Parts: sequence; C-alpha cells; structure tokens
Amino acid sequence: MAATSRTDDKLEDLRRKRGESQLGGGQRRIDAQRGKGKMTARERIAMLMDSGSFQEIDPFVVHQSTEFGLDRQRYLGDSVVTGYGKVDERLTFVYAQDFTVMGGSLSNAAAQKICKVMDHAVATGAPIVGLIDSGGARIQEGVDSLSGYSDIFLRNVRASGVIPQISAVFGPAAGGASYSPALTDYVMMVRGQGQLYITGPDVIKAVTGEDITHEALGGAESHASKSGVAHFDIDSEEACISAISLLLSFLPQNNMEEPPRTNARDASVVEGLTEIVPDSPNQSYNMLDVISRVVDDGGFMEVHASYARNIVVGHARIGGRSVGIVANQPETMAGVLDINASVKAARFVRFCDAFNIPLVTFIDVPGFMPGSAQEYGGIIRHGAKLIYAYAEATVPKVSVLTRKAYGGAYIVMSSKNLRGDVNYSWPTGEVAVMGAEGAVNIIHRSELRDAANPAAVRSQRVAEYQERLMNPYAAAGRGLIDDVIEPLETRPKIISALEMLVNKREALPPKKHGSIPL
Ligand code: HXC
Repeated sequence: MAATSRTDDKLEDLRRKRGESQLGGGQRRIDAQRGKGKMTARERIAMLMDSGSFQEIDPFVVHQSTEFGLDRQRYLGDSVVTGYGKVDERLTFVYAQDFTVMGGSLSNAAAQKICKVMDHAVATGAPIVGLIDSGGARIQEGVDSLSGYSDIFLRNVRASGVIPQISAVFGPAAGGASYSPALTDYVMMVRGQGQLYITGPDVIKAVTGEDITHEALGGAESHASKSGVAHFDIDSEEACISAISLLLSFLPQNNMEEPPRTNARDASVVEGLTEIVPDSPNQSYNMLDVISRVVDDGGFMEVHASYARNIVVGHARIGGRSVGIVANQPETMAGVLDINASVKAARFVRFCDAFNIPLVTFIDVPGFMPGSAQEYGGIIRHGAKLIYAYAEATVPKVSVLTRKAYGGAYIVMSSKNLRGDVNYSWPTGEVAVMGAEGAVNIIHRSELRDAANPAAVRSQRVAEYQERLMNPYAAAGRGLIDDVIEPLETRPKIISALEMLVNKREALPPKKHGSIPL
C-alpha cells in the first residue's frame, strides 16, 4: 500500500508540474496575449499539427541564470515550446516562442531547446517550423543569450539545403532575433503583428533623427513589399498557419527525397491560352493568366507576391508533380529584369534546385533594366546571380517562351545554353538581341541619316527585321528551342517533359562550394 501511495504522490506531482508547464508565464499573461488578439504558442502549434499528433520535448527545462533577480522568475519550459508532430501526416519539427514568459525572450536554456529539435530535424530529415514571437536575446543573461542565438544561427546555416526551414513571425523579432528567420528558406509575417528589425525606432531616432513607427519600419507589409525579407505577408494567424501547411505540401521532407506527388493526371489541352498574348508587342498581359491555366486546378502559391512584381515565382503542381514556377510578368514594368527581380528569382531557383523541385519557366522579357540607378546598384552583379542559379541548377528545367526573349535576358531565363532541358516556344516567341526599333536605329544608322524619307526607310527596315528575326524559328532552327507549340498544348507538353525528365541525373564538378556573386 505504501509503495502505491508513493507512486500516486509522484504521479500527482508529475501532473501538477505538467499542468504548470502548460501555463507558460501564467494565466494572467495568457489572458493578456489573447487580449491582444494573439494566440498562445501552444494554440499555434495545436492549429499547425494534425490533431493529437504533437509530442512536446523539454517541458521541464528551466533557465539556470541568477543575475538581476532571474532566479525568482523561473517558468517550466521557459520561453519556448518545442517538439514534433505531423502536418498532413508528415513528420514536422516545431518550436513556438512563448511571449507569456518574459516576452518570449531567448534564454540560453530556450536556445538549447530549439537547437535540440533542429538537430532532431536534421538527423531524421524532416522540416522545421519556427513560430516566432520574441523580444530577442534575454537581456539579463548577457553573453549566454547571445551565444544561444549563435547556436541557432549555426544550425540554420548547416541545415540549409538539407531540410526545409520555415519561419512564421507572429509578434516581435527584435534585434538579432530577426537573423534566424532571415537564414531560413521562407519567412511569413502576420500583418499588424509580426515585426522584424535590427535596430528599433528608438535607436534610429537617437542615431539618425528619423521618426518611424515599429509597424512602418519592420511590419509585414514593409518586409513583403520593400525589403523582400518576408516571402509572405498574411492577414491572420490562422491564415498564416494554413499557408505553412500548404507550403510544406509542395516540399520534400529533405534534400534526399522527391516532393510528394498527387493524383492529378489530366493532360488534356487547355483552351483560353491562345488569346492571351496581344497582337501589339507593346501591349501587356498578365502572365498569371497563363500560369493559372497550366497548373493543376489553377493552384499557384505565389512567393514574394508583393516584391519585384516584374517577375513571378511560386509553387504549383503540373500533372501531380510539384514544380517551381518562374515567370516574367509583362504587366509590371514590361517584365524587365532589374536588381530585385534577379535576386528574387535567383533565390527561388536555388531553393527549388536544393530540394529536387523541377523548374518551369515562362518567358516574356525585353531585357535587363537600363539606367544609372540600376548600374550603380550593381545590376551586373545581381543579374549574374540569376545566370548563376539557372546554370548551376541540375533539376529538370522546362521553359515556354510566350513572346519576347531579348538580349542577355534570353540567356538568363532557363535557356538551352544554360542547360535548359526542354525549351518550348509559342509561335508568338521572338528571340533577338534587342527589339526591332532599337536594332534598326543601330544597324541602319547611316542609311537612316542619309535617307530622303527616314521614316519610310525606318518602317521598312523594322518590318524586315521583324520578318527575319522576331520569331522563334531562327532559335528552333539551331535547336535552341526544341519545338514551337500551340499555346493550348502547353500543359500536356510540360507534363510529358516532366515525365521524361523524372530520372534526370546531372552532377556538377566536385567542389567545396561555388562563389556566387553575392
Ligand atoms: C528580457 C524582455 C525582453 C528581453 C521583453 N521582455 N523583451 N525581458 N529580455 N529582450 C519582457 C519585458 O520586460 C516584459 O516583462 C515582458 O517581456 C513583456 O514585454 P513588454 O515590453 O511589456 O511587451 P510589449 O509592450 O508587447 O513590447 C514587446 C517588445 C518590447 C517590443 C518586444 O518588450 C521590447 O522592445 N523588448 C526589447 C527588445 C530588444 O531590444 N531586445 C534585445 C535585442 S538585441 P514584464 O515582467 O515587465 O512584463 C538582440 C541581440 C541578439 O536580440 C543578437 C544575436 C546576434
């Protein structure tokens, strides 16, 4: 009897401790968090994971610091909830910072909890999702909290290209705390809640005199549209968590696996594509109208939708296979490649390549953006990133030229010369060094200067140039375009190209790593 009662006592003690650990910084703090319209760390995890699948790790960890009265502020589990579970039946590791414990600030103990799940994620080849809500390094701990961040950053970098890493920012991520999200593959931010900045408004005011709010400086919209730090800015916590699941559905568990495949196999022709490209070369159209007709069920998860809109990137499936789509967007700045578009697309191409996601590229690009702002900003260096990314990528690369492929931009966008595997063109495709007007002004300069009627000569020469060069057949005649296809055939052609390429193997020369022009 005595043994049983001792066991009972221990069980009761465990249950009491377990209950305490579930309360984070206490009910008053939980109420305050909810009062701000925010979910708690545990609620976020419960919403992300398949029902009942979450297994918590380290609920009894406490920090060991004693400075500044910290010994009187110990909470079971400290400021982060960690563990694993299933998202759509696939193993996923998670950590969620708990703002109710000292503002989610990162103690060394919290850092070690995060590192433990990151290590498990790498060892078992499963994605890691960080749900961020933190005042940054726990100030009272000094170097201990800083070294905690270092341990996380090191793991972020080592896990890069091995397992998918996703960060969702639900609250502040002040100071160095912003660098862990920045090192991961995807950053999502909740509008009106998520805030990322290196130095806050107070410091900025003191140093530069500039007056700016937290939201304008580091809110979701700023990072989604101005800095490009955030790939997604999302209206609510619920929508953000759904977006995490959707994103994971396109990704393999790790770099040694293929992305999951669905049963969508309909390979019939698609009406409505022929009418999209306008007759006039100067008229724009929306490339999303092409993409949505070609992908399975119109499902396209656009990445960086508000940033560098002259190029479109995102995840979709074609014939059930996960693909990364890269597409020039004629509707914004005529689809020209500038610095931001080059960097945006280059990063996406490298992500897809790292995770065995084939690339499907839709091309309508008048060239690189001219101007001193672009040249001084380093368009040569940044444009080179996109060349580098496409040239280095060994995943299947399929492209469709819908209209213009001019100049250097022709080369960049998945061209045959950069080892594009299958390159299609619509009959409206035009591969040329530059547009007709510009070309005629250069190559017929003296004739135009001496002509009695320069306008008539110019239009005749433009017509000749268009007739001879502004079509896909010169490229197709050299095998640089594999076939000229009717727009309605686009989807079945891509499906069969992806099928043909399914076992593609291509290796780069052995090296430690390349030296991408950063
Ligand atoms: C310790 C912290 C803390 C921190 C917040 N708290 N941040 N405790 N270390 N970094 C505590 C607060 O003291 C408070 O405790 C509780 O958390 C809630 O914070 P509030 O300020 O009441 O909340 P709110 O008004 O919502 O403001 C949140 C906040 C603000 C914007 C995050 O707390 C803030 O600015 N914190 C400091 C941010 C910061 O400068 N962090 C260090 C960055 S440097 P009580 O008990 O009073 O309620 C850094 C270096 C990393 O991170 C370097 C790695 C390379």
